[in-house]
Amino acid sequence: MISDDFKQQLLNRIDIVDVVERHVQLRKAGQNYVARCPFHNEKTPSFSVSPSKQFYHCFGCGAHGNAIGFLMEHSGLGYVEAVKELASMAGMVVPDDRPAVVAQQKAAQGLGEVLLVAARHYKEQLKRSESAIAYLKRRGVSGEMAAKFGLGYAPAGWQTLAEVFPEYKSMPALKDAGLVVDAENGRRYDRFRDRIMFPITDQRGNVIGFGGRSFADSTQEGPKYLNSPETPLFQKGHELFGLFQARPAIRQHGRVVIVEGYMDVVSLHQHGVDYSVATLGTSTTPAHVEKLLKLADELYFCFDGDDAGRKAAWRALENSLEQLVDGKQLSFMFFPEGEDPDSFVRKCADNDIWTALPLSEFMAKELGRQVDLETDEGRAKLLDLAKPLLKKVAAPALSLQLRRRFAKMADVTVPELEELFGLRPAAAAAKSRRPAREVQRPAPLSLTRWMLQAILNDPTLAERVEVESLDTSDRFFPALCHVLDLLRARPGLLERDVGPIVLESVRGLGIAGLVREAYAEVLASDKEVSSDEFMSALKALRDRVQRRRISELIGKTIRSAEETAELSRLLQVVSERAKDPTVKVESRV
Ligand code: UTP
Ligand code: MN
Repeated sequence: MISDDFKQQLLNRIDIVDVVERHVQLRKAGQNYVARCPFHNEKTPSFSVSPSKQFYHCFGCGAHGNAIGFLMEHSGLGYVEAVKELASMAGMVVPDDRPAVVAQQKAAQGLGEVLLVAARHYKEQLKRSESAIAYLKRRGVSGEMAAKFGLGYAPAGWQTLAEVFPEYKSMPALKDAGLVVDAENGRRYDRFRDRIMFPITDQRGNVIGFGGRSFADSTQEGPKYLNSPETPLFQKGHELFGLFQARPAIRQHGRVVIVEGYMDVVSLHQHGVDYSVATLGTSTTPAHVEKLLKLADELYFCFDGDDAGRKAAWRALENSLEQLVDGKQLSFMFFPEGEDPDSFVRKCADNDIWTALPLSEFMAKELGRQVDLETDEGRAKLLDLAKPLLKKVAAPALSLQLRRRFAKMADVTVPELEELFGLRPAAAAAKSRRPAREVQRPAPLSLTRWMLQAILNDPTLAERVEVESLDTSDRFFPALCHVLDLLRARPGLLERDVGPIVLESVRGLGIAGLVREAYAEVLASDKEVSSDEFMSALKALRDRVQRRRISELIGKTIRSAEETAELSRLLQVVSERAKDPTVKVESRV
C-alpha cells in the first residue's frame, strides 16, 4: 500500500512536464504545452499539459490525468510501478509499510547513520594525530588516496566515540553497528582504539563497517587488523573493500583485480590500478564472484606466491566454478615470494610484467602437480581429482575445453571421461542447456540486432547509418529500418529516451515482438556503446554484406555487364578495406 501522503509528496516533487516530455515532444503554447496526442492518431495537436494544474488533457480523445496516470496509460505500467518509476526520477524511495519491513528499514537506517557519524569522527581525528599521519606517510599513502577511501584514525582512549554520541552509554545502535563492546561488568568501550581506520562501504558508498589497523606496535595488543563484526548491514562474504571507489574504473576497463588486503587496494589505486578491490579477511566466496562478474568480463585474483597463497587461490577457484560463464575470463596471479600487491606495484608500476594464469591452466597445473602423470595410477588419480571440479562448471564452452584438457592429460578420450564422470556428452549438453545466467554480451548476436539496441539506447547513433550497407536478410532488418525511419521523420527525438515512443509506434505491427525483445535487453543492461564501436560495427556489417554479394555474383554462371562491373568494384573495395586496421569484422559476432 502506498500512502496518500507519499503520493502527494511525490506529485509535489516532480513536474508533469518533465515526465511527459520524456515520452512526447512538447511545444510551449502560452501557459501550457501541446503535442499531437500519444493516445490517439491525429494530425493537429490537441494534447495539452498544464504545469500549473499538473494535469494532461486531450481535447480530441478525452485522455486525462496526472503524472502517475500518464505513465500508467503511456507505458502500460501498473499503479505501483508507475509510482516507483516517478519516485526514482525524483530520487525518492517508496516506503514499504509492512511492519516487519518498516522495523528492519528503520533499524538499518539507524545503523547506517551511526556508522556515518563514526566515519566522520575518525576522519576528523586523523587530521589531529601526528603519529597516524606519519604512519600513513611512511607507507607512502598519498593525501589523495586517504581522501578517496575516507581513511581515519580511532584515537587511543576507551570511550572516544562518546564525543560524537551523547547517548554513548545507552544507544543500542552503537553495539548493533559493532562500534562498541559491552563488557561483562556492564562497562561499554570503543571496539577500535588507536588504529588506522578503513571504512568499508556498500556499492553505493554507504559505510557499513570498518577495518582498523594497529600501527604503534607498543600500545596495541590484539590483531594487526581488526574488522567490524557481522551486522545486519555487513556480511563479510558478500562485501568487497574498495568496490564503491573502483566501480567506475571496473566498468570502464571491463576488468577487476581482487587482492587480499586493505593496504593493497589503496596502493594499487594510487599506482593507477584503480579497478582493484579486496576481500575482507575471508577467501573469495561465490557471492563475490557473482557480484564481480556482473560488473566485469575479466577477473584477476592476486595471491602471494607462497603455499598459503596457493591454497587461498585454490579456494577461490573452487568457489568460482559454479559461477563461470562463457565469454568471461578468470585468471590467477602470483607474486614473488615476500611480495604483496602493495610492495610489488611500488617496484613495478609497469604492470606489463604482471603475468596471470587462466583458470583452466591454474587448475591443470595444480592438479598435475599432485599426481604422477607417468603412471596409470597417477592418471587415474588425476581424473578422480578433476571429477568433482568439472561437474561444477556450467559454462558449456569452457566445460568442453576442460574436458578436452583433462582427457588429454589423463590419456583418455573425451567420451570416456564423460562416461567416467557421469557427465552428459558436451555436444548434446551445449545444444540443449541454456547458459546458467544471462551474459551481458551473449556470444552469437546478430549485428543488425546489436545496432538496433545501440540506437534504442542512444538515438544519435542513427545519424551514421547508411541503409544501403545494412543486411537485408537479417530478421531484425525491418525493425531497424522502422526505427531509422521514425528517427528521420522526427529529428527532435534524437535527444531523448526513444524506447517508449518506438514501442508505441510498433504497436500492432509484425515487428512489435522483435522490437520489444531488443528493447527489454537494452533496459536490462547499462553498457554504453561508443560511437567508435558503433562505426566499427557498421563497417563490419557493410563488409559482410559486400562479401556476401561478391560470392553471389561469383556464383552466377552468366553475369550482365552491370553485374560484372559491380563485382569488380566490390572486389576492389573489399580488398582495400582488408588493409584497414580499424575494421574488425568478427569483433561482434
Ligand atoms: P596481511 O597480513 O597480508 O596484511 O593481511 P596486509 O594487507 O599486507 O597489510 P599491511 O600491508 O601489513 O598493512 C591481509 C588481509 O587479511 C585480513 C585483512 O583484511 C588484511 O587486509 N587480516 C589480516 C585480518 O583481518 N586480521 C589480521 O590480523 C590480519
Ligand atoms: Mn602489505
